[in-house]
Amino acid sequence: MWLSESNVKINKVSKPFIISAVVFVFAGSIIGSIWMMSLLGAEHFVFVHNSFSLHKTFQVDGFLTLLIMGIGYMIVPRFRNVQLSSSGLAYLSFTLIILSIVISTISAFSHETLLLPSNFVQFLGVSIFAGIMIWTLRIHPRLLRTADYFIGLSVVVLLFVSLFHVILAAAEIAEPSGDIGSGNGNIMSEVQMLMLFAVLMIFGVEYKTLPSFLGFIKPRRKLAMVSFGLGITSVILGISSMLYSEFLLAETFNVVLLGSVITFGRAVYIFGGFDNREILRVLQDERKARYSYIVRHLRLAFLFLFASIIMAAAFNIFGTFVLYDLAVHYAAIGFLGITIALYLPLMLPPITGRIVHFTKFNSLPLFLIIAALAIRTLGDIMMTSLQLDSINSASYAFMTSGWLVVAALFAFVTMIHRSMKQEEAINEL
Ligand code: HEM
Repeated sequence: MWLSESNVKINKVSKPFIISAVVFVFAGSIIGSIWMMSLLGAEHFVFVHNSFSLHKTFQVDGFLTLLIMGIGYMIVPRFRNVQLSSSGLAYLSFTLIILSIVISTISAFSHETLLLPSNFVQFLGVSIFAGIMIWTLRIHPRLLRTADYFIGLSVVVLLFVSLFHVILAAAEIAEPSGDIGSGNGNIMSEVQMLMLFAVLMIFGVEYKTLPSFLGFIKPRRKLAMVSFGLGITSVILGISSMLYSEFLLAETFNVVLLGSVITFGRAVYIFGGFDNREILRVLQDERKARYSYIVRHLRLAFLFLFASIIMAAAFNIFGTFVLYDLAVHYAAIGFLGITIALYLPLMLPPITGRIVHFTKFNSLPLFLIIAALAIRTLGDIMMTSLQLDSINSASYAFMTSGWLVVAALFAFVTMIHRSMKQEEAINEL
């Protein structure tokens, strides 16, 4: 399904998106790790204070947005067997997103606030992407139309959030409040909405691909429609909560979002409901390794997504920083990171033209991610309950959490590289 001649043109377009996203996730994670060290008391690691704002820019605009755009440009035309309508426009959208990140970087190191030009250029890039996606979605697919609803909703959320940031930046210039980049809404909902487009795009891609990956005939459509209905409701509630800081609004948003995630998980059999024992018995070697890799990553990712929404709901009640940090990073690293680690090896063959061997994979990257999030959770709890205000040996141990994610990224890239190198060697024989 993933490797075909007809896709060469689309692959070329996705390549710079995917490569840049990988570079940004490394850079953003290194900045995040240094930020974490400074929060845990290693003050001398703070070089330029504003540089920490680049963590969010690199991870959300650089890594998430570019990756999801790259995946969208590759997968959505492929789902309906057509070529991407305009490669030129897709490259232009890439250039605009990179330009917006460059402007944000200059802004972080200078005394100028360049938030408005940066956000505006980003909005232009995102608008091109949204236009191309909506144009492609109008072509009726042969199967599984419901996937398009999630993809369409994801594009609308990305566009709205991007426009929201342009309006915020313009309002800040008109009436400076000093609180750059934040509105009057609930801060937790704002960050959740920042990541929701990626979650919805993943749902769309999973709805379409999981039947063939997991071996069931088709998803439970009615349940998927319930999930989509709850998804739309949660987007409306999330947007309202970004605008008005109202406890009940933010909590209802979390409850409805959780409902959408649970029903989606049931619709595509992530936690059972479909007996795959026979499949597992019949599959062997490469196909079995691939199947087990997909199931393991899917389940873990969904567990982190549940946990993230529960942490967000708890943050709205207790207001502790720990819960905010866990809500953001269970979703960012636990759900998005693990799901992307699941899909990247499946997407690389059409991009590189080389097969990835799942039998050559190991569990080190996943182990490092789980260890990192476990240490982060412990560190956050201890920081709050023991009221750590000076650096001690425990805080040094917790500082490793960020670096473990960086190590996981290295282990992942090395693992993929080695699994493809084997193929090259075989080809040369
Ligand atoms: C090595 C892995 C990472 C480390 C060590 C790290 C560290 C941090 C730290 C210390 C903060 C500030 C405290 C807080 O608000 O929680 C933060 C905030 C944040 N991080 Fe990360 N992070 C990592 C990965 C990621 C990833 C992969 C993403 C997104 C895909 C992400 C998105 C965010 C966002 C959106 C915020 C909130 C910023 C704000 O409130 O202005 N992080 N991170």
